[in-house]
Amino acid sequence: MAANSHHTITVCTDCRRLAPDDLAAAAIAGLLRERLDEGVPPASHFAIRGTACMAACDTPCAVAFQAEGKASYLFSRISSDADVRALVDFARLYAERPDGMSRQCERPKLLARKTLARIPSLVSNRTGADHEL
Ligand code: FES
Repeated sequence: MAANSHHTITVCTDCRRLAPDDLAAAAIAGLLRERLDEGVPPASHFAIRGTACMAACDTPCAVAFQAEGKASYLFSRISSDADVRALVDFARLYAERPDGMSRQCERPKLLARKTLARIPSLVSNRTGADHEL
């Protein structure tokens, strides 16, 4: 983990593979690191860690994006090289946005049916989507 990392990508290390060709969590994490290290977005902006179950067990593998002051995202069904490329494309968008917010049409198409949650930051109200109840 880079000392100045402020974005974190969390990969569930408990998720099982549904098919023999599905990537294991360690492979997903390794490909993410490799591709982020290619420089777009700068690797120093992202730490990658593993964690236990993130409650998306029926649709492995679960991968979360988090950053202080930004919306959090939980993706599922991450199982292929193409999925990892889509996550790297999403990482670029996520890094660019001060509040981390993006609409589905802005995110990689491959992630459209793999996005389980977008949770707004506790400290951000830039979109106007948050309001008192
Ligand atoms: S085992 Fe991965 S989300 Fe539950």
